[in-house]
Amino acid sequence: MNVGFVGWRGMVGSVLMERMQAEDDFQQITPVFFTTSQVGQDGPAIGAHQPLKDATAIDELKQMDAIITCQGGDYTKAVHPKLRQAGWQGYWIDAASTLRMSDDAIIVLDPINRNVIDAALRDGYKTFIGGNCTVSLMLMAIGGLFAQDLIEWVTPMTYQAASGAGARNMRELLSQMGELHDEVSDELANPASAILDIDRKVAEKMRNANFPTDQFGVPLAGSLIPWIDAELPSGQSKEEWKAQAEANKIMGISSTPVPIDGLCVRIGAMRCHAQALTIKLKKDLPVSEIEAILAAHNDWVKVIPNDKQSSINELSPATVTGTLSVPVGRIRKLSMGPEYIAAFTVGDQLLWGAAEPLRRMLRILLQ
Ligand code: HSE
Repeated sequence: MNVGFVGWRGMVGSVLMERMQAEDDFQQITPVFFTTSQVGQDGPAIGAHQPLKDATAIDELKQMDAIITCQGGDYTKAVHPKLRQAGWQGYWIDAASTLRMSDDAIIVLDPINRNVIDAALRDGYKTFIGGNCTVSLMLMAIGGLFAQDLIEWVTPMTYQAASGAGARNMRELLSQMGELHDEVSDELANPASAILDIDRKVAEKMRNANFPTDQFGVPLAGSLIPWIDAELPSGQSKEEWKAQAEANKIMGISSTPVPIDGLCVRIGAMRCHAQALTIKLKKDLPVSEIEAILAAHNDWVKVIPNDKQSSINELSPATVTGTLSVPVGRIRKLSMGPEYIAAFTVGDQLLWGAAEPLRRMLRILLQ
């Protein structure tokens, strides 16, 4: 199978390349590397190691049996329609959101919706799109409860990492942290300095017009941002809208959707999104049974006991970052009633949230 790669050098693309090398995926295919800016230059030392091809050349792209793109939505918008109009029948696997909700596209997250993917392949679908990161990570965490149709509704309140906004935003977060530290490093070195003086200097620095906020628009280090993505007439942010729309599409239950809605918040984590979930179950189940259902659902979810030490050690972006593990914990009954439970989950938004479902979709095509 000839597989074209576009956007393989960006952040999500680089994570995809690392994962594909770690899993020997390139041994199963003939990879062809495309570029939007460096046509003819050296490709990566993978496969035949040929010069990079033009990612806008429809004739070149048409030779591919499948194309995986992490190039972003503008590229998808510009190239995908032309390629289809030119009669291309290959598989388009995409990290961008552009085509996600289109009727001829399937959102891929195979530990959750392998049945939907298999049916789509039988029906001749050719367009497979990775889901929004928070949505995919939530489903990886509580897929067991969805699979057994135990959920009446969910409200996810998110704590989203800088990486979801892009590589430049991760850099800006660190620059902000560094500037804040630099501002008070002398006082920090002196244990006798007054904490309220330190705090005042930090606040002044954050509010200073020169504080680096080109990417986020406002301070994130030492602060947070209670809005992610565009504004919608409903009062939701687009990130919040995606929860219900995408999760139900992934599970193939859009005609009888489970309500899923909450607030999405950016925090100063690097690449792990966390979510506090309030779940209304369809029936009163003991916590031990809920934990067993969650743990049995897939190979990556990890149920964390609801005690302080386990929670702070395991349900932490610092612990989870760079891994495929999706811990879920803080599982307990809420005082609203026996069907109401809380849960807290963390996941790497570049792995299960972006790259991993794409490489697994390719593997499914190869089976
Ligand atoms: N939109 C997400 C975020 C990342 O801003 O965190 C992409 O799914």
